[in-house]
This record gives sequence, structure tokens and C-alpha cells, in this order.
Amino acid sequence: MRDLVTEFDTRQGTVRALHGISFDVGESEAVGIVGESGSGKSTVVRSVIKLLMPPGRVAAGGAVFGGRDLLQLRERDIRQIRGKDIGFIAQNPFSALNPVVRIEKQFANIAKAHGMRADGAAREHALELLAATGVNDPQRVMRGYAHELSGGMAQRVVIAMALYLNPRLVIADEPTTALDLTVQRQVLDTLRRLTVESGRAMLIVTHDLGVVARYCDRVLVMYQGKVVEQGNVSRVFVDPQHPYTVSLLNSVVRPEDGGLPAGRSVSPADSAADLPAQAAAGLSESWRS
Ligand SMILES: Nc1ncnc2c1ncn2[C@@H]1O[C@H](COP(=O)(O)OP(=O)(O)OP(=O)(O)O)[C@@H](O)[C@H]1O
Ligand SMILES: [Mg+2]
Repeated sequence: MRDLVTEFDTRQGTVRALHGISFDVGESEAVGIVGESGSGKSTVVRSVIKLLMPPGRVAAGGAVFGGRDLLQLRERDIRQIRGKDIGFIAQNPFSALNPVVRIEKQFANIAKAHGMRADGAAREHALELLAATGVNDPQRVMRGYAHELSGGMAQRVVIAMALYLNPRLVIADEPTTALDLTVQRQVLDTLRRLTVESGRAMLIVTHDLGVVARYCDRVLVMYQGKVVEQGNVSRVFVDPQHPYTVSLLNSVVRPEDGGLPAGRSVSPADSAADLPAQAAAGLSESWRS
């Protein structure tokens, strides 16, 4: 992503939501985006795959994926990439599901839209993905409709759909907010296994620094439409450079933790490689309490 500028034309005038955002996501890499509500996280990920809601529009910048600038592609061409090469998990799972089409048929439609056969093997694959994201009775879910699903169940279905065609990049906007902790773990483990650990990539928006610590290699910190800090998770958690990052890290720490996030209270001699896990242990808990 290079110098992305996204604006919203409102009656009060043009609101510039993103002020020149640049970052990379490499193969076998998980990148997290954190930042307060309204900082522009969803706008970034929706801009990349041309799913901005009107009146939003990309005013400048480029998003190069596999040698092509996604932002220059026609709708027909980006549609071929979405779902197949890039899986997208929206912040609201129901927005991604068709209310009048059985879940099973929606999986089949994804395959067909990309010229693949929706045969028994494809169906089996969908069932496996549903089970992997914590759906207890995948057969029943496949036969049903979106309105029969709880928020958490819909989220799992959408995640399975995003992974269905084995995309090279999965973009997820708060993919596990509706899920309880155990299921969240299971889903994120699955996401990481099927992307990063399979030579693919993941870009994930989250409010949860524990998720970043545990699942991401690098992190972008957004504040008021800008990336104010980016770097390896271990570096950013131990040695944040921007005041907003410092306050974000401090905001998840209770006084009894000694005033410093788990990752920041260790001595320099400690292995930096252990920091994400340590930080996750300390942060997830305090974040939730
Ligand atoms: N429909 C809209 N009309 C005008 N401005 C908008 C619109 N949608 C978003 N914006 C602007 O874009 C900014 C970023 O919104 P965005 O939804 O990307 O934030 P976010 O970081 O995803 O927040 P959250 O954590 O609540 O999901 C908002 O602060 C607002 O200024
Ligand atoms: Mg958002």
C-alpha cells in the first residue's frame, strides 16, 4: 500500500479519513492494525479491495498485489481477485451473507464465480473449514440460512468462506469480536495456520493487543487517519516510539501489573522472541477485565 488517501464527501464538505498510508504485507506474514475507534482501520482494509461504502472514495495512492495495482482495476477484474486471491472478512459478518440463499449454496456460488466446480470435494472442504473455525454441526449450518445463525456463528461461516478458495492474502476486520475467548483462539489459530504457516499472508484489524501479540509478526498503529508507528510486534511492544502507542499499551495494564505491559517490564537481556507470547499472556487478560 502506497500513500493511500481516502476521503468521504459529506454535506459538510470533504472529510479526509486517511492521510497517506503506506505499509507492506509479505508472504508468510501476519500484520495487525490497531488504533482507536474512528482512526481509519476499516477504511484502510476496505480501500485495498475496493469495498469502500459510498460516499467513500480513494483520492490517491496505490495497492500493489502480485504486480498489479488493485486500485486501478475495473470492478470486473477486482471481483476475480476478491474471494480467490484475497479473502475478506468484514467487520459485520451478516453484511457478507446472503439472507435468502442457503449457506451451502453460498459456498458453491463462491466456487462457481471463480470457475471452479462445486462438487462433493468442494463441499467436504467447506465442512472441514466450518469445523476448523469451531462450528459444531457443520452439516446443519450448511443446510440453513444466515438469519438462523448467532453473530458468533455467522462470523465463523464468513471466516470459512474467506478461506474457502485458499487465498494468498486474508484481510480480516475484527474477525473475532463476537466470539468468546476459547473460540477466538481456535479461529485465530486456524486463520494463522491456513495463511501465515502455509506461505500466505494475513492482515488483521483488531482492538485486542493480546491478539496482535500472539498472532501478528508486525503491527501498524493508526491514529486519526495516519499510521503513526509500525514495526515488528516485539519491538513496538518493548520500545514504542509514538506517544499514542505508549498510551495504547498503558491503557491495557492494571496497576498491579507494575504499570508496564508485560512485554515492557522485562529486562533487555530477555529474549525478544518471547515477548509476543509474554505480552499476550499479560494483555489479553487485562484487556478483557
Ligand atoms: N460514511 C462516512 N461518512 C463520513 N465519514 C466517514 C464515513 N465512514 C467513515 N468516515 C470517516 O472515516 C474515519 C474512519 O472510520 P473507520 O470506520 O475506518 O474507523 P475504524 O478505525 O474502523 O473504527 P472502528 O474501530 O470503530 O471500527 C471516521 O472517523 C470518519 O471520519
Ligand atoms: Mg472499523
